[in-house]
Amino acid sequence: MDIGIDAIGFYTPHYYVDLVKLAKARGDDPDKYTIGIGQDQMAVTPATQDIISMAANAVDALPSARLDGRLGMVIVASESGVDESKAAAITVARLTGLNPWVRAFDIKEACYGATAGLLMARDYVAAHPTKTALVIASDIARYGLASGGEVTQGAGAVAMVISAQPRVLALQDDAVAYTEDIPDFFRPTGMTVPVVDGHYSTAAYLNFVTKIVGQHQVQYHDTITDYAALLFHLPFTKMGKKALAALTDSVRLGQRLTAASQLSRQVGNIYTGSLYLSLLSLLCHDKTMQAGDRIGLFSYGSGAVGEFFSGILAPGFADHIGQAAVIQLLAEREELTIPAYEQMFNDQLPLGDAAAALPAEQSTARFTVGGRRDHARWYRDTTKSMTEGD
Ligand code: CAA
Repeated sequence: MDIGIDAIGFYTPHYYVDLVKLAKARGDDPDKYTIGIGQDQMAVTPATQDIISMAANAVDALPSARLDGRLGMVIVASESGVDESKAAAITVARLTGLNPWVRAFDIKEACYGATAGLLMARDYVAAHPTKTALVIASDIARYGLASGGEVTQGAGAVAMVISAQPRVLALQDDAVAYTEDIPDFFRPTGMTVPVVDGHYSTAAYLNFVTKIVGQHQVQYHDTITDYAALLFHLPFTKMGKKALAALTDSVRLGQRLTAASQLSRQVGNIYTGSLYLSLLSLLCHDKTMQAGDRIGLFSYGSGAVGEFFSGILAPGFADHIGQAAVIQLLAEREELTIPAYEQMFNDQLPLGDAAAALPAEQSTARFTVGGRRDHARWYRDTTKSMTEGD
């Protein structure tokens, strides 16, 4: 029985910064950002979006018929959550009106969390073939103004329905995972930006990719030539190029990685959703991909866990990835000047539980953060005339 991704929905905030302009403002050569690091634009998150509203907006981009009474599990993967205890998945399920007879919970392991969720959902559907699962990766990558990681910031959410007879990608039972306790990137409780050793993290990532793909070849007797495309977690798109170069010099795989990097170039790092944004980018931008093609996916979460697994493209996959909505979402974004970006970066809902009210966001987003009352955040839903807290 095939099990895998049946539909994909994507959301990224309404605002972005042009990285050539950011490079000039920081006194850097723009080529360093666009060629050396491989990023063109970066999503900027207003105070009116957090990982819950972004996750709900990504779910809203899915065909609603896929979220029927068969849904049995809702997983949010994030490393930038807004509560130390309560799962974001519970609020997302309520906001989006999901069937309440579900198991809802969050997963955290840096940029790897969504892969844990996806493969757990696969096993859940294998055990209960009439059920479906919803896995949502939602993150805001913040390193700090004028920090070394600033150009690799971003924000967004990817929602995926997992079912039997999937219409996008049938996940193969071939995952190889590796875990090693390393201090490349982490965010101690209470800190709003991570402690990161950028060059060490890049080296650790490359060490993981060669080690894990090598082990996959030993265990499953496959070779790089078996793959129509290789996808990677993309903290910045040059990282994917480095990973591919460590495995092969295939021109064909290089071209496909270029297509798979297009959305990341415009959005930036979305941490746990980045690998799945790359899958979406490949399917939107490379019209030569065909049903039956085998795709290899490498997931990396600092700390660190890495996993390599594969999937087979399903017939008609292009009809289930919401491509028109992705194009429209990006086309409607508003560019910020550098001072406006800096102000938005600093103008966030403060940590803690103090009451606050935010003005309504001027965008087409269905779900936004309204503020905080009775210690908890509340959310606006544009499809409801009166929302909680109004
Ligand atoms: N023209 C073209 N290229 C240029 C250039 C120019 N004028 N100037 C510099 N470059 C190139 C450099 O040669 C270098 O290329 P290579 O890596 O191929 O050698 C590239 O631009 C970057 O230059 P630096 O290494 O000097 O850049 P930096 O010191 O500012 O650091 C960074 C870059 C490490 C990515 C930093 O932005 C960072 O720390 N980012 C956050 C951490 C991160 O993303 N780590 C990735 C692995 S961990 C992970 O994957 C989990 C996660 O999501 C965080």
